[in-house]
This record gives sequence, C-alpha cells and structure tokens, in this order.
Amino acid sequence: MSKGNGAHLVICTEGIRKVYRLGKVEVEALRGVDLVIEDGEYVAIMGPSGSGKSTLMHIIGCLDSPSAGEYWLDGERVSDLRGRRLARIRNRKVGFVFQNFNLLPRVDIVENTALPLRYTGGIRRKERRLRASAVLEQLGLGDRLQHKPDELSGGERQRVAIARALVNDPAMLLADEPTGNLDSDTSREILRVFRELRGRGHTIVIVTHDPNVAAEAERVVRLTDGAIEQ
Ligand SMILES: Nc1ncnc2c1ncn2[C@@H]1O[C@H](COP(=O)(O)OP(=O)(O)OP(=O)(O)O)[C@@H](O)[C@H]1O
Ligand SMILES: [Mg+2]
Repeated sequence: MSKGNGAHLVICTEGIRKVYRLGKVEVEALRGVDLVIEDGEYVAIMGPSGSGKSTLMHIIGCLDSPSAGEYWLDGERVSDLRGRRLARIRNRKVGFVFQNFNLLPRVDIVENTALPLRYTGGIRRKERRLRASAVLEQLGLGDRLQHKPDELSGGERQRVAIARALVNDPAMLLADEPTGNLDSDTSREILRVFRELRGRGHTIVIVTHDPNVAAEAERVVRLTDGAIEQ
C-alpha cells in the first residue's frame, strides 16, 4: 500500500476498536484509532496509564486482533486474521523488543537471536546461527557470541533482544518500554542503537512513558482514553 507521494505504509489502521469483556463488564480500551506509519518512520506512542497503549501495541504487533475496524500491515489486511494465520504474519513482519528482554537463560546469545528463524522454518541450524551472528556483530556484540544472557550487562542484553527482533528482517520494530529496566547511561546507549537503526531505514515504533525516549522519535502519537489526540 502506498500514499500519493509514493511512500510505503507499514501501518494503516481505520477505526480500530477494542472491547474487553469481563463477565458482564465491558471495557472499551480503544475507541476508533486511525494510525498511519510510513516505511522508515520513528514513532513514539505516549499516553497516561490505562489509555490503551499496550492494547494498541498488541494489535499493531499482531498479538491480538481488534473488535472492530481495519488494519493493513505492510500492505496486507490483517484485521480479520486470527490464530495461526495471525501468528505467521507476526513472525514474518514484526520484531518485538520488550522491557524485560525475554531472553532464554540457558542458551548462548546466538541461539537466542536465531529463535525467530526456527519458527519461520526451512532454514538449517548452521544458516540460522550464521545469520544471527551477523546481526549480533552489527550491534557490536561480535566478541560476545558464546555468552549466555546472564553473562552480559543490561544494555548488552537489550542489544541481544534487538538483534533477535531484527533477525527476520521484519517490516517494523515494535518496542514496549525498551529502556524501562535500564539505568540512564544504558538507556542512552540503547537509544543510540535505535537511532542507528533508523538511519539504516528501519521502521521503529516505541511505546514509552519516558519523555527522553519520546524526544528521540520523529513523531509522537498521544493516546487518551483509547483515542489519538488531534
Ligand atoms: N486483558 C484485559 N481485560 C480487560 N481489560 C483490560 C485488559 N487489558 C487491558 N484492559 C483495560 O483496557 C484499558 C487499556 O489498557 P492498556 O493496558 O492498553 O493501557 P496502557 O496505556 O498500556 O497502560 P500502562 O501505561 O499502565 O501500561 C485499561 O482500562 C485496562 O484496564
Ligand atoms: Mg501498557
């Protein structure tokens, strides 16, 4: 999907709604979100607690589907997909970076980084390790390949998580409070990595409470009560 100016749209949503039902109680977490993000943009999503940031992130990351509305991811209509079909798109198109890194403790960082390639299937182990090592090298971890996550600093662990998110060459990187567990020096280091990735043309969407993190992005999208502020 492209706009008139030829820019390719990575995210395009129209009227996204999300209702959570708990017994007889309904919570309307998103009330009609229209969001367009072009290829190569660096966008921060901000908003008060409970405004729907995580809900929106789960939907644009294909971890969950909307109750109503339409969503095109990298030109593919995904709002009607569920289950395995949604998971397949997610694995191909989305690289996730979480606050808690979510690394496997018992295997080295090459194996950790290669994990999404195992879900993709059809790539031999040696090839998976080669590709993972190449991404780790790009992120400055070439001399740590044999390390396990607990043999690394917090910033290095988050760089491994970023490498894992990139290994499938996704359409976008989606990060939920990626610096939430890091001290300020290490946060700056991770923000430098995102800036570099942006420079290489990656599309980055960060959910954050931190104004310093949001200040790095080119555009800030603010959510209040499940809708984007105009
Ligand atoms: N699984 C769920 N079941 C029911 N209600 C939910 C569920 N997840 C979120 N909600 C509700 O939906 C609304 C939006 O929640 P969401 O987690 O998206 O907010 P958030 O902006 O990410 O908040 P925070 O900054 O605290 O992480 C809140 O009112 C929340 O209570
Ligand atoms: Mg949240």
